[in-house]
Amino acid sequence: MKLPERVRIIDVGPRDGLQNEKQPVPTDVKLGLIHRLQGAGLKEIEVTSFVSPKWVPQMADNAQVMHGIERQAGVRYSVLTPNMKGFEAAVAAPREEWPDEIVVFGAASEAFSQRNINCSIAESIERFAPVVQAAREKGIQVRGAMSCTVGCPYEGEIAPERVGMLAKLMKGIGVQRVDVADTIGVGTPRKVQAALEATLAHFDVDHISGHFHDTYGQALANTLASLELGVWNFQSSSAGLGGCPYAKGATGNVATEDVVYLLQGMGIDTGIDLDKLIDAGAYISEALGRKPASRAATAILNKRIA
Ligand code: HMG
Ligand code: MG
Repeated sequence: MKLPERVRIIDVGPRDGLQNEKQPVPTDVKLGLIHRLQGAGLKEIEVTSFVSPKWVPQMADNAQVMHGIERQAGVRYSVLTPNMKGFEAAVAAPREEWPDEIVVFGAASEAFSQRNINCSIAESIERFAPVVQAAREKGIQVRGAMSCTVGCPYEGEIAPERVGMLAKLMKGIGVQRVDVADTIGVGTPRKVQAALEATLAHFDVDHISGHFHDTYGQALANTLASLELGVWNFQSSSAGLGGCPYAKGATGNVATEDVVYLLQGMGIDTGIDLDKLIDAGAYISEALGRKPASRAATAILNKRIA
């Protein structure tokens, strides 16, 4: 099977990676990570979220983060906006501080939708619709994250039909591309392919990305399974940071370093400098007082010392 020749990685570390940290991470450290990621060649970075600070205190400095980014031409900066309040906050700043893309985030599981954004799937779509419309009117791209597309911490296994239903609803309100997320990292390759295939019924392959958490160590296998279907956009976190506050026990996203190492080894172009990426992961890991969760980064850092 012919795999894609290039892959686009969206590093979600500054948002998905840091949102679960208990201690406040200083804004300057978040900016230090974002700047190192773009320096390493990342062309898409999910930088913060405009959600309720009562729900996710770590993202309360969203406006300061947007203000502090030294933007690099050709890089797309995205933020999560669950409702009009979040969207309005994201565009309250001068235009040069607006996000290039906003992300509305729904779930294929009713229970997760309730726990994460305090409403049903149907209600979430109603809330997202005006956000999508407002964003597109302002020329801001819109991505839709679809959580729990394989399994849910509250409902267990999720049937692909439910993923298809959510993708159809997202398409119906004008979402331009979607993430197929394995929020709790329970997916294995064929199940992930089934979720992707259900999504492919509504979005073309260029507008679908894989978002895999690595709780069960399956994320790289799931990445390869996605490549087999032609999917070439993936989300990951440098140093494997993260977890979702509303998905207990779920670990971080697959580490960007591990994905890049895999793809480079397969001759697939990512445009990313692995050494600089490892420096970015080492920087944030040191700031958080822990070792990078990336296996590839750990091996390469050990070699550097030896
Ligand atoms: P709610 O309580 O139903 O909202 O929360 P509400 O409209 O009833 O408002 C309640 C209070 O929140 C009010 O303040 C609002 O002003 C305020 P009060 O009057 O009590 O002082 N509020 C806001 N403040 C700031 N920004 C906003 C906002 N909206 C309302 N945007 C809401 C609904 C969605 C806001 C809430 O549930 C929330 O913030 N949830 C956050 C969920 C979250 O960030 N989860 C993690 C990200 S998703 C994820 O990680 C999964 C993903 O990675 C993919 C995957 O792996 O699956 C994307
Ligand atoms: Mg996630």
